Amino acid sequence: MSTLDDKPYIIDEPNKFKVHRSVFVKPEILEQEKRKIFHKCWLYIGHVSEVKNHGDFQTRLVGGKPLIFTRGADGVVRAFFNTCTHRGTLVCRERRGSAKTFRCFYHAWQFNSCGDLIAVPGEEAYGKNFDRSQFRLREVPRLDHYKGFYFVNFDENAESLYDYLAGAKEYLDIIVDQSPTGELEIIQGTQEYDMVANWKLLCENSFDDYHVAPTHITYLEYLKDSGVDVSIPKGLLMPKHGIGKSLGNGHAVIDNHTYRGRPIARWMPIYGEEAKEEIAEIRKELVERLGEERAYRAADTNRNLLIFPNLVINDGSSVTVRTFYPTDENRMRVIAFAIGPIGESETARARRLDSFLTFYGPGGFATPDDVEALEVLQQGISETYREVEWSDLSRGLAKPPEEEQLNTDEPHLRAFWREWNRIMTTE
Ligand code: FES
Ligand code: FE
Repeated sequence: MSTLDDKPYIIDEPNKFKVHRSVFVKPEILEQEKRKIFHKCWLYIGHVSEVKNHGDFQTRLVGGKPLIFTRGADGVVRAFFNTCTHRGTLVCRERRGSAKTFRCFYHAWQFNSCGDLIAVPGEEAYGKNFDRSQFRLREVPRLDHYKGFYFVNFDENAESLYDYLAGAKEYLDIIVDQSPTGELEIIQGTQEYDMVANWKLLCENSFDDYHVAPTHITYLEYLKDSGVDVSIPKGLLMPKHGIGKSLGNGHAVIDNHTYRGRPIARWMPIYGEEAKEEIAEIRKELVERLGEERAYRAADTNRNLLIFPNLVINDGSSVTVRTFYPTDENRMRVIAFAIGPIGESETARARRLDSFLTFYGPGGFATPDDVEALEVLQQGISETYREVEWSDLSRGLAKPPEEEQLNTDEPHLRAFWREWNRIMTTE
């Protein structure tokens, strides 16, 4: 209980699912989210390939906190709070790199890549009992990874990452399967942009297939003009395909038969005739290694996966890893990376990067439309939520249980909201 005159955050009844719009608007809600969600859930920090060598580091804002994600000279991957233990300055101001030491800009205290304080100018002034070991860079309480995807948790007592990920692990496995060696890498070149919208709107939007046909009409027409069959079978808003489902713990997915093509294994005209042969070879390798059924999953289906609260992996025409965090109740920062198999050919890599930009890139076919949609939504509710209180997420609810929930239904959105609500209403 909560929002406006003690209205609940959500209404979840048979045939009725509504979200109170104040949760996108009120600063108090964000304060609670920071405490209950961003301080308690596992949050994505980066991929093992980004800290491959001893000394490699990435600085990231994770759940709004500045962190250093690094592999020390001892080979151990760590996440430090990026704050000097002397007086608090950001110890590392670079976005990424490789370093033997981090030297604070302000008074020049120096830390090694394992976090030990190794040099203090004028140390004698602190007296002979000064203990450098008390001033190690502070590590984030929990850091763990699943198949190279690293997450942090600011809660010492959080459940294991393995348990937390629940059914989402299977979807990470399909991505890992796309690499002949099982090894993936983040490809250099980050997309970063802000949206003037509440962060939860992007959770919804990232796998809301109901919006695709109207919002992304430009892209669908482009595909049609390039000879791709995007015809819409009667009664469906999207081409024959696709389910939405909950994966537990607020994670959820849309799992679709792809019509967009996948440069990793499914050719379409926009890749060009010359790509046909190589894409067929990639597919053949998948079938040989994984078997028909698993290869079909990797090659002919695509998925938008939300790992609660704020990691989205769009395993579609390319594989985009996207995370975002609220910088204000009505503003978020988005950061996205392309990921692909280590050792793929130059041409396959070029197609992957092209796809990464073409659809989900901030100047691509989809993202500008989505940014506009969410900003306009935020504008629509910010000053009206007291009068027009509820948003509807009931698509598919009226279906009998034996009938499949489609990607254009909203079971996946409801899965997110149910978990959000559970956490926000539990002390
Ligand atoms: Fe870092 Fe003083 S704040 S050395
Ligand atoms: Fe979209």
